[in-house]
Amino acid sequence: MGRLEGKSVIITGAGSGIGRAASLLFTREGAKLIAVDKTDAVRETVDLVHKAGGTADAVIADVGVESEVQGYIANALSAYGKLDAIWANAGIGGGLIPIAEQTPEHWQEVLRVNLIGPFLAVKHSIPHLVKQGYGAIVCTASVAGLKANASGHPYAASKAAVISLVQTTAYSLSGTGVRINAICPGLIETGMTKPLFDGAKQRGSEDKIGQLNPLKRPGQPIEIAAMGLFLASDEASYVNGQAFPVDGGLTASMPYAGKPI
Ligand SMILES: NC(=O)c1ccc[n+]([C@@H]2O[C@H](COP(=O)([O-])OP(=O)(O)OC[C@H]3O[C@@H](n4cnc5c(N)ncnc54)[C@H](O)[C@@H]3O)[C@@H](O)[C@H]2O)c1
Repeated sequence: MGRLEGKSVIITGAGSGIGRAASLLFTREGAKLIAVDKTDAVRETVDLVHKAGGTADAVIADVGVESEVQGYIANALSAYGKLDAIWANAGIGGGLIPIAEQTPEHWQEVLRVNLIGPFLAVKHSIPHLVKQGYGAIVCTASVAGLKANASGHPYAASKAAVISLVQTTAYSLSGTGVRINAICPGLIETGMTKPLFDGAKQRGSEDKIGQLNPLKRPGQPIEIAAMGLFLASDEASYVNGQAFPVDGGLTASMPYAGKPI
């Protein structure tokens, strides 16, 4: 028996990085998947799942557009007859622009994808989850939502807001049996961080990446997918309303320049 055997699951941002790793892991564990992304790359993810013997359908959708969110949820219900878990994972970085040069339009786009996207996933999944009396929602936040210096301002604000969305929604769902949690990844090697990794490779300083955490390395998408698997599964039946850093220990410390004690 897989850890998600027979469960109908949606993962957004499934065309790359964490979402693709999660798609492969969840389906290997028996989930029937609706893989959502705004790009065609989600079809490659679904091909990989099929080659590995898993069950998945691809849906091209923009997670920040309400009608498209309603569409991908309807897809899960029509394909698999129910919805057991949803991982609102899609996100954009937003770059590193000095605050004096940032525009409201830039903020609006980052918030639209990174915050409104998870909000719409919550809004349109909970009627189905609440009706059946169980279900799990996972949202990808970030260490940038916990502390400064991990990203630009709108990205950090969007991820802090995702953590708040998770906390407040856990209480909105009181007594329903539906759980919601967030994951706060540290630096993970994905499409989003490719420029950083490529730049370091070009400079020959790849071994400097990830040195701020006590594991002394960046993370891999599968290491975030593993936390998502736990939170989406019944193994996490008493885990609710929390935001879990998966960051090699990065956020465990105050800034500290000396030799570790
Ligand atoms: N990589 C990191 O270091 C890191 C750290 C903390 C948090 N995160 C978060 O992890 C999540 C996954 O990102 P990743 O690192 O795998 O990056 P990624 O760029 O490899 O994957 C993100 C996917 O989301 C999709 N996407 C973007 N906007 C979308 C939209 N409007 N509608 C539908 N799909 C959309 C992209 O097409 C892409 O396939 C994001 O929420 C990101 O903010 C990443």
